[in-house]
Amino acid sequence: MTKSLEDLKAAFAGESQANRKYVAFARKADQEGHPQVARLFRAAAEAETVHAINHFIAMGEVKSTAENLQTAVAGEHYEAATMYPDFLKDANAEDDKKAIRTFSYALEVEKIHEQLYTEALANLGKETEEYDYYVCPVCGYTHPRNAPERCPICNAPAERFIHIK
Ligand code: FE2
Ligand code: FE2
Ligand code: FE2
Repeated sequence: MTKSLEDLKAAFAGESQANRKYVAFARKADQEGHPQVARLFRAAAEAETVHAINHFIAMGEVKSTAENLQTAVAGEHYEAATMYPDFLKDANAEDDKKAIRTFSYALEVEKIHEQLYTEALANLGKETEEYDYYVCPVCGYTHPRNAPERCPICNAPAERFIHIK
């Protein structure tokens, strides 16, 4: 690997994390009654997304949708089958309740993502309908077409789900 490619990978990881940190910090600033700071965090978060995507494209990692779906299936499979089960073992061994909760939520949802991506890959170019998705804001549970009355993973009610058009 060239040094530039190595640097692009590191910069992509850093900018991606900065984006998510700023989104979390913006929510906290709103909760604490600092709407202008929240706006600044959201604006910078958006800019870090621009940087992250520019780096990712420069790495040559955005391919055809069929290839991108295969990448997504492999990533979700790794997380659901290996990474989160291993992390949950560590968290259980240390009785870290916050880690156990967040890893459990992610593990269950990544299984569903793997399934949704696998179906999308199988149907690619043969889609007969379009529909929206609904995402649980607590655990990330991802559901096509409608929000379930209660999240099957964390029990959050339908009205809290985020509508993805
Ligand atoms: Fe940046
Ligand atoms: Fe996922
Ligand atoms: Fe949920």
